[in-house]
Amino acid sequence: MHSIYARVNGVSGLWSTCIMVLLAAVALSSFLFNADPKGNLDIVSLKVFHSKTRRYPYRNEEISFVKFNISTDFTPLFNWNTKQLFVYLEAEYTNAQGVNNTVILWDRIVRRKEQAKIDVVQKDKYRLRDLSGSFRDVLPAQYSLKYNVMPYVGVLSYGEAARTLEPIDFPEAKDSVS
Ligand SMILES: *[C@@H]1O[C@H](CO)[C@@H](O)[C@H](O)[C@H]1NC(C)=O
Ligand SMILES: *[C@@H]1O[C@H](CO)[C@@H](O)[C@H](O)[C@H]1NC(C)=O
Repeated sequence: MHSIYARVNGVSGLWSTCIMVLLAAVALSSFLFNADPKGNLDIVSLKVFHSKTRRYPYRNEEISFVKFNISTDFTPLFNWNTKQLFVYLEAEYTNAQGVNNTVILWDRIVRRKEQAKIDVVQKDKYRLRDLSGSFRDVLPAQYSLKYNVMPYVGVLSYGEAARTLEPIDFPEAKDSVS
């Protein structure tokens, strides 16, 4: 009785050691693939409008509309330890109060290698608003296309695929969308 128990215990200990070593090897192998895909990012147009929101009908809020063109091939990021990618377009700017903000304008989850070639020309998915309600005196913004790689085993990794060459000015707000 005693010896059977000890034996089962020994086998399952060996088994879990094997699994640990295997998982560590898979996680480490990801570092061998240091793919660093680079692509293109253009801000096609940037417009600012006054808008009266339903929540604050008496407050004149400004909203920016960003149209962009991104094209990047993320296929090299897919290996046997890639579960999925999170790809996103980010705006970075300093507002009139001197606060640095980063805002996500568009994102996509890529689950399969066949969907990893991304060519998108469209308007922002998430509206760009500033907490202060205005883009007056806001410094020109930088835009960047970034990604997270989520592995089956191991840690998340981050990267940047493209960035606008020059910061882009916010134009003066026009009337009016509501
Ligand atoms: C988007 O950018 C790519 C690469 O710079 C370019 O080839 C393509 O013509 C652009 N598309 C539009 C609609 O501007
Ligand atoms: C905002 O970003 C700029 C440029 O990256 C940096 O020099 C500055 O110190 C940042 N300001 C704050 C308040 O973090």
